[in-house]
Amino acid sequence: MPKDPDTPQRTDGPRHVAIIMDGNGRWAQARGRPRLFGHHAGAKRVREVVEACKDLGIRYLTIFAFSTENWKRTQVEVAGLMNLFRRYISKEMRALHDENVRVRFIGDRVRLDQKLITLMDDLEELTAGNDGVNLTIALNYGGRDEVARATRRLAEDVAEGKLDPLNVDEETLPRYLDTRVLPDPDLVIRTSGEARISNFLLWQSAYAEYEFIDTLWPDFSAEELARLCRSYGRRDRRFGAVKV
Ligand code: FPP
Repeated sequence: MPKDPDTPQRTDGPRHVAIIMDGNGRWAQARGRPRLFGHHAGAKRVREVVEACKDLGIRYLTIFAFSTENWKRTQVEVAGLMNLFRRYISKEMRALHDENVRVRFIGDRVRLDQKLITLMDDLEELTAGNDGVNLTIALNYGGRDEVARATRRLAEDVAEGKLDPLNVDEETLPRYLDTRVLPDPDLVIRTSGEARISNFLLWQSAYAEYEFIDTLWPDFSAEELARLCRSYGRRDRRFGAVKV
């Protein structure tokens, strides 16, 4: 039977989708509003996208909420974003749990305030037994920073005699990354028309498929995600090999 082009292809679809949620500032600016207005609108899209993942058979969703470079923004914007994350977590905690979503955070927690860290810990703990969509939120995350922190821990294990340097291969480092329990992303999406990966999941995305779309993050929808998943299902992933 021919495939219905409008039906999401569960079997061929991505298992892990990672999203660089870009364009909140421009979305707000276009409406003559402050940048934080755009971030609030962006936060509202997250729940809809998590729900869409469930319908599309996407088991893992990883979203880039705050990068190690985002501290360079104005103090007002940084404080507003941190406040938004705290409010979002407290407000959405129950709903995410009720929807069987398992939430994890990746990134370096050292610069985050204690109240936010406690909320992150609580949400991870509350949802630890859930087996629905795995939502990973990257907060104070940078791919290079993650690899540097992982290397430090790996070097400590070598120094303590727990790891033989001769046994270090490309299977070793991923066990030290923040994402150690997650599969690599199959599809990385960046909204807002920028075609760069901005330090997101550098190691993990070596063989990911990419979609750079013009939509600004607050306008992203479940329908657009479904379309990108259908397009992914038509791609020929060879992982460097040749199909015979
Ligand atoms: C990039 O848009 C977006 C961010 C740096 C923040 C992302 C945050 C959210 C979507 C909010 C909520 C997330 C959670 C998990 C509650 P930009 O500000 O760089 O946009 P611009 O390029 O148009 O200026």
